[in-house]
Amino acid sequence: MGGNNINLEELPHILDLMSRALVHDIGKVRIPAEIINKPGILTEDEWKVVKRHPVEGLAFLLRRWGISRETARMFPAVLEHHLGMSFSGYPEFMRRKAPGFLARIIHIADFYDAVTTPRVYNKSPFSPVEVVRVSDQSPWEIGLDPTQVTLTLSE
Ligand SMILES: [Fe+2]
Repeated sequence: MGGNNINLEELPHILDLMSRALVHDIGKVRIPAEIINKPGILTEDEWKVVKRHPVEGLAFLLRRWGISRETARMFPAVLEHHLGMSFSGYPEFMRRKAPGFLARIIHIADFYDAVTTPRVYNKSPFSPVEVVRVSDQSPWEIGLDPTQVTLTLSE
């Protein structure tokens, strides 16, 4: 399933993954802009607010969009996308199980975007080459799925 060689038979699956991935960070709507745009290091309390966004995202789907718990299960990445493969991510109560396929893919994409895009708190982002080197050499240290990193970076 390479970006350059998409098999048309896989297209419905790819579109399904993409549509479910689009809402993975919906919980960020509950993080105050002062925290999202803070140029400095977050305080412990601010980190607690940030770390709640996966749970807030699920709550948003259930309450704001009014979808059923059954339907919410189709969006596991909302809750799992910061778990990481090293079980050191969040939400902490979810650390007992490994994140699902979509959450692992989103985690890689999130990591890549976070470290290559200039942010208010990081004006000197990594180059794509630096990210590939770090991700490929030590995926476990940053909680990435090594198999998915290899597949993603080989494209
Ligand atoms: Fe997130």
